[in-house]
Amino acid sequence: MNIRSFVVATTAAFLLASCGDSGPEASAPATSGVTDAMIAAAPEEEWLTYGRDYAERRFSPLDDINAGNVGQLGLAWFADLDTARGQEATPLMHDGVLYVSTAWSKVQAHDAMTGELLWSYDPEVPRETLAVACCDAVNRGVALYGDKVYVATLDGDLVALNQSDGSVAWRSQVVPDRENYTITGAPRIAKGKVLIGSGGAEYKARGFLAAFDWQTGEELWRFHTVPGNPADGFENDAMEAAAATWGGNWWELGGGGTVWDSITYDPTTNLVLFGTANAEPWNPGVNDRMGSSEDGTFGDNLYTSSIVAVDLDTGEYAWHFQQTPEDRWDYDSNAQITIADLEIDGEMRHVAIHVPKNGYVYVIDAATGEFLSGTGWHPINWSLGLDPETGRPEINPEARYELTGELWVSLPGAGGAHSWHPQSYDPTTGMLYIPANNGGFPYVADNDFEAGEIGFSTGLDNAATAMPAIPEVRQSNLDATTGALVAWDVAAGKEAWRVDYTGPWNGGTLATAGRLVFQGTADERFVAYDSADGSELWSFATQSGVIAAPMTYSIAGDQYVAIMVGWGGVWDIAPGILTAKSGTPRNISRLMVFKLGADGQLPEAPALVERPLDPPPFTGTDEQVTAGASLYGRYCSICHGDAAIAGVLNPDLRHSGAINIPGSMNAIVLDGAFSHNGMVSFAEALDEGNVEEIRQYVIFRANEDKALEAAGG
Ligand code: HEC
Repeated sequence: MNIRSFVVATTAAFLLASCGDSGPEASAPATSGVTDAMIAAAPEEEWLTYGRDYAERRFSPLDDINAGNVGQLGLAWFADLDTARGQEATPLMHDGVLYVSTAWSKVQAHDAMTGELLWSYDPEVPRETLAVACCDAVNRGVALYGDKVYVATLDGDLVALNQSDGSVAWRSQVVPDRENYTITGAPRIAKGKVLIGSGGAEYKARGFLAAFDWQTGEELWRFHTVPGNPADGFENDAMEAAAATWGGNWWELGGGGTVWDSITYDPTTNLVLFGTANAEPWNPGVNDRMGSSEDGTFGDNLYTSSIVAVDLDTGEYAWHFQQTPEDRWDYDSNAQITIADLEIDGEMRHVAIHVPKNGYVYVIDAATGEFLSGTGWHPINWSLGLDPETGRPEINPEARYELTGELWVSLPGAGGAHSWHPQSYDPTTGMLYIPANNGGFPYVADNDFEAGEIGFSTGLDNAATAMPAIPEVRQSNLDATTGALVAWDVAAGKEAWRVDYTGPWNGGTLATAGRLVFQGTADERFVAYDSADGSELWSFATQSGVIAAPMTYSIAGDQYVAIMVGWGGVWDIAPGILTAKSGTPRNISRLMVFKLGADGQLPEAPALVERPLDPPPFTGTDEQVTAGASLYGRYCSICHGDAAIAGVLNPDLRHSGAINIPGSMNAIVLDGAFSHNGMVSFAEALDEGNVEEIRQYVIFRANEDKALEAAGG
């Protein structure tokens, strides 16, 4: 313990002793540097918080770059990043400095005009953390407040750095343990409270949103999103009420409902609105978490797949609106929540606009959570419609795959009609610009599943749904999986225009008063569209797939547009073959900044190397392949790809030298020889016989695909 934290700890003990239960005293809000008033005012030259303003609109009033001149936009400068994993962050700009976070939760500060690197910070996240991160080592951004910049780390800490030089002011652990929780989201800050949640709803996590003091790093309050073990007593009435909607011993698997992305502070109500993830595990047949009784009733599992509102000052529950009761499809409600004032039925309403994974656009009252409208905007088959009064979905009985025992292909899929990729909202037109994914996801229940200490726990039989080596099936799955940019008229509840993409998992959007919408794409482009009709006005070849959202700022009369480039995140990792849908995007991670009249060039990109499959001949048994497929599906596919076909970030095991010699995978898979790079030991779940089964399965798959290649498939 250093002197500083000793002082903090003793002060905290003193405060606790003298103030009873009221918790640590919060520091006064910032009065210089970045203040609450500045974030609320959202000066047009700067970009001070993740979604630009408290309302998370990502709409810039700047119009120097506009539909008339965007054709002259060029590369002003770029910075190569020292990590080649998914880049999801939105840069922030204050006082001429651009602050970005990169994969592995590193932070960089650049001169926003010239690109000069001013300082960088590496929290030194252990690479083993990758084993409990569902979706790559990503980070979505930093927060600015007072004279500090804040980042949350993949291994679960919140760190305050000094804006001037990147030195650490304090570092506090946010997560209850590092085995089941990771953090990828951007903190938000209001009235001196740094707000942050976590991921982990496939790893025995109990979701929460917590507030930390901006000066001391002390925890001020924590609101859990799902109830804990009743035997320990409930923290508050909201937990007691929620417990009535759960069954089985849900708390043993954590419960889920993690707050891994959206956090919106609304100064009008002093409420913090946040979205929650799925319950654990996906398949409720594993632990009876819905208490599914024979009379056909199912517990809602509050407050999962919901928007929840709590008081900023105390963290006390205000209201919730659950979008997907009975979730068994991984329909996180974590997409960014946008606040707007909208005329509805002739009346001005202060609303929250939300487009979660489940295929509906919701408009709800921002003060009370009252349901105002919910409109399907993507093909939906899990729900037969919404109750017009309450917004509660009527669940399609066929979608309860744990009861039917049948394969269920849900629309939208687990990737979501819209995931975390930020939407933007133009308050002058009421138009929402949504990065959309089209396609289904197959679910086959494994009701005998037992969650172990390691692995991504869904309770699904991933082997049963792995993409088969049948060209027609692969083709139809590929054909059905696409992406789009959708312009949605919120008040009218209908689509205004769309741009179709060949593949899913395109970047977030930025709307500007220059009648422009900017978006990076999976097929390695950065594009500007006319926000009125979606016509393409400009594009730039980024050499790498883009998943992050762009932002804009202005210095000395020049408007700039900045974007983080670097493909990754879940879509690359899980369904490897689908990555090919956008032409197998590369990952060349960079921060790119554009302005009118600039003509910067990127260095030539290395060409993608075609590697023919050259596996050893298959010598195993059918039993080994069956067992290996099941183990691979459960423990390996999340990183090495469905059906042993990897994306671009992790090695494709069909090509690995380690499959050539019996036993040579043991050092990697059991002894953890590569754990320093995120390939941890699976010894607690697998033995040498299991590793040989997986090896035989991979050899079998490689030979299948080699035969397809030879046949021109
Ligand atoms: C959390 C992600 C993750 C999971 C889950 C995972 N791996 Fe890996 N694996 C990696 C990464 C990252 C590497 C690259 C490590 C390196 O280059 O040092 C790797 C490398 C490997 C390699 C070496 C490949 C080569 O030729 O370089 C083998 C073999 C391997 N993994 C097998 C497995 C098996 C078998 C499983 C399931 C039991 C598995 N992995 C699960 C992330 C993962």
